[in-house]
Amino acid sequence: MPTLFDAYTFGDKMTVTNRIVMAPMTRTRTSDGDVPNALMAKYYAQRASAGLIVTEATDVSSHSKGYAWTPGIYTKAQVDGWTLVTEEVHRSGGKIFLQIWHVGRMAHTSLMPNGEAPWGVTDEKASESDVFAHNADGKLAFMRASPPRQIRTEEISELLKEFTLAFKNAKLAGFDGVEIHAANGYLFDQFMNSVLNTRADSYGGKTPQSRTRFLLEVVDAAIRELGAHNVGVRVSPFGRYNSMPADPRVEETLLYLCNELTIRKTAYLHVLYELMPTGNMQDSEFNETHLSDDLVRKIRNALSATLCSIQCTEGCRLGRSPRVCKVSHTPEVSGGAVRSRRCYFRRSGE
Ligand SMILES: Cc1cc2nc3c(=O)[nH]c(=O)nc-3n(C[C@H](O)[C@H](O)[C@H](O)COP(=O)(O)O)c2cc1C
Repeated sequence: MPTLFDAYTFGDKMTVTNRIVMAPMTRTRTSDGDVPNALMAKYYAQRASAGLIVTEATDVSSHSKGYAWTPGIYTKAQVDGWTLVTEEVHRSGGKIFLQIWHVGRMAHTSLMPNGEAPWGVTDEKASESDVFAHNADGKLAFMRASPPRQIRTEEISELLKEFTLAFKNAKLAGFDGVEIHAANGYLFDQFMNSVLNTRADSYGGKTPQSRTRFLLEVVDAAIRELGAHNVGVRVSPFGRYNSMPADPRVEETLLYLCNELTIRKTAYLHVLYELMPTGNMQDSEFNETHLSDDLVRKIRNALSATLCSIQCTEGCRLGRSPRVCKVSHTPEVSGGAVRSRRCYFRRSGE
């Protein structure tokens, strides 16, 4: 049986030197203009001994922003900033995927261009969730997400163009691939939730096809720009983070998505195995809710891509410089069944 320290090839094409994947973690450390900087390059290069790094979530455009000081990938300065990061990681022998997101309704007017309302799949507010933004005194604070306005159907094709540009830019900046953030109550998760998504157009919540339509259009755009073996998707089935309503159709949506990703031969599906707290991250206890073995088995049956369940870090709940990287075993590592959920990996020099 392979160990975590053996090499692994995603989709028969992209090889990593070990099976440890660093989970995406928002660090809010950018320079003005949401530009990645030398500090971020150092941070990622220090972690390049992981087989694969997935970056912090990165905005596809100025209206996709839900946290102050998160990076973007839509301006030349941002592409140049990310180039610093990829060069340092590659110099240190690592591989790095850019996590790309749009937060949908999880934003605040103070973060949006011209103070406009956040872009929601519907106009329903995330009434119990906060975002990290500047308050009326200009100080950074957690504040309730603002009421969104529903994205118009014709705006969805504009959004698709923005994602396409982001994928082109990711390639320009030297990333090995991209991970599309479809988890944790952000835009794609909002589309996929059959209760929240009450839209009446072809992106509405009635069928698994329509719920996943936008995500799969974006996946196809990523594949066109980067190749299927350089594209991953992150989901959080049953997650209630960011005021997501309980959805009785989660399994149907998920298994449909698995089949579609299999057809497209994407590199991996990254599943949040241990779910995020229902409330806000800063004042909630992470509990031990996790996906059932039965569901994980069904995902594996429907999916030919790698199934990867990676968690964040113990340290990241305690501070901003995690020392211990907690990684869940993938079924590849444990021989087809999830036997041991996680192991601990300590690296020196951090
Ligand atoms: C401070 C912090 C920032 C995070 N940022 C992201 C992010 O940018 N993208 C993402 O998909 N998940 C993000 N997550 C979720 C983690 O990747 C991970 O799934 C979660 O923390 C559960 O793992 P854990 O139990 O080891 O902490 C973040 C979590 C924390 C605590």
